[in-house]
Amino acid sequence: MERESVIVIDFGGQYNQLVARRVRECNVYCEIYSYRTPLQQILEKKPKGIILTGGPSSVYEEGAATCGKELFETGIPVLGLCYGAQLMSHVLGGEVKRAQNREYGKTETFFDTTSPLFQGLPEKNIVWMSHFDYISKLAPGFTSVAHTANTPVAAAQNVEKNLYAIQFHPEVLHTDNGTRMLYNFVRNVCGCAGDWKMDSFVEHAIREIREKVGDGKVLCALSGGVDSSVAAVLLSKAVGKQLTCVFVDHGLLRKNEGDEVEAVFGPKGSYELNFIRVNAQERYYSKLAGVDEPERKRKIIGEEFIRIFEEEAKKIGRVDYLVQGTIYPDVVESGLGGESAVIKSHHNVGGLPEHVDFKEIIEPLRDLFKDEVRKAGLELGIPPYLVYRQPFPGPGLGVRIVGEVTADKVRMVQDADAIYRQEVDSAVEAYKAEHGEEPKWMPNQYFAALTNMRSVGVMGDERTYDYAVALRAVNTIDFMTAEAANIPWDVLQKAMSRIINEVRGVNRVFYDLTSKPPGTIEME
Ligand code: XMP
Repeated sequence: MERESVIVIDFGGQYNQLVARRVRECNVYCEIYSYRTPLQQILEKKPKGIILTGGPSSVYEEGAATCGKELFETGIPVLGLCYGAQLMSHVLGGEVKRAQNREYGKTETFFDTTSPLFQGLPEKNIVWMSHFDYISKLAPGFTSVAHTANTPVAAAQNVEKNLYAIQFHPEVLHTDNGTRMLYNFVRNVCGCAGDWKMDSFVEHAIREIREKVGDGKVLCALSGGVDSSVAAVLLSKAVGKQLTCVFVDHGLLRKNEGDEVEAVFGPKGSYELNFIRVNAQERYYSKLAGVDEPERKRKIIGEEFIRIFEEEAKKIGRVDYLVQGTIYPDVVESGLGGESAVIKSHHNVGGLPEHVDFKEIIEPLRDLFKDEVRKAGLELGIPPYLVYRQPFPGPGLGVRIVGEVTADKVRMVQDADAIYRQEVDSAVEAYKAEHGEEPKWMPNQYFAALTNMRSVGVMGDERTYDYAVALRAVNTIDFMTAEAANIPWDVLQKAMSRIINEVRGVNRVFYDLTSKPPGTIEME
């Protein structure tokens, strides 16, 4: 069965994955390719539409990311966004100029709502602009269908040729009705039926895995995180006991997490699979003793994981397939798909054990974004508390304990973190009960970390010289940038007071206000 799809051509802009996610929200499957991909290769995918993203260049710059005229002559509808819009105009004979001032931020924009792109929209709409260059003269055959006080061409179209250009960013949430504009393009202009849905994905994936695996043996490293859990359940539904999951408890998990994972996937859980839990806590603590350099810690934790995994694999004997919970952003960020993130190589893609003897890797979630993985998880009947788990780094609490890791420090950060999450969760629940919606300050990720700072305090009549805990909570869309969340003071105070009273060894609590950049979300 051929899958209906739209292709996003990546010119290196920061919102490229967001464009693809929004298209998928319109139930249209979509993939990202670098602008360097030959046109022929793109056409072989038989896309029903093409979207050109924003990018950091200026069309006149030497070496600027570009494309040939042929891209616009295939008859396939093309939508250019920001740089993509300028490029389309430039290549097709229009003019692009550099403005004196950058147009940046929320901008009131006026629309021609007879344009297929803007059907059903109000005539005046707020959009997110971020550009220096602007389209100063339309390419032949184009008309302007949106403008702002400063930009005569905020959007343009050549309906006859199915070409559309938007100067702003419909993919970001700051643009009102942005998803509607993308919907209009992919569903109405491109004529996509919208068949990308998670129930059919799950059904299709199970069938495909069954066909591929036959009666082979499958091995999966289960971390308890969303991705590996969903991958494991898919495999279990497809091949049952032919699957063995290895869960390494490295002693750097959140409080009770090891037991929770075992309860779901272990022998008393609800899935048909072989489950091996390796209790490697002591092994990790001894490897990490005396190590305080963050990268070194990450390396040790990663290498030890691979070693343990290999040991377990040897005990099982030959396996035919190894399952990886790679998801689409990992693929794009490793530079295998898009353009912008050749910068970063991802642990899920790069970090395979070298000495595990297997025939092939299965990556059942390779095409999915995180929110789609969650939907697939619910579809598979995985408990919502697992599906909606906060992101948790592979090196676990190892990167939330600044400096040397010890069993005692792990206890402190686990206990403080459990209290903090409880307090935030119950404040959120109380707010929801009263207002019927989540509070505006609802963080996307929140946890406690242990600083390496000890300070003097007084407890009862005794002097203390104990550690300080840092509470972190961030609002973020993509985890690439983040702001500290505005957690109500009383929630912070209650968490602080409980942490100091209940967690031995902690006598001070800080709230971390740092945004990203310049900070990162994790401490190390
Ligand atoms: P940073 O600290 O880089 O974190 O701002 C961004 C997001 O990524 C998570 N994170 C990781 N996830 N392996 C992972 O799977 C890792 O090594 C890792 N380090 C950070 C972090 O929790 C945040 O959501």
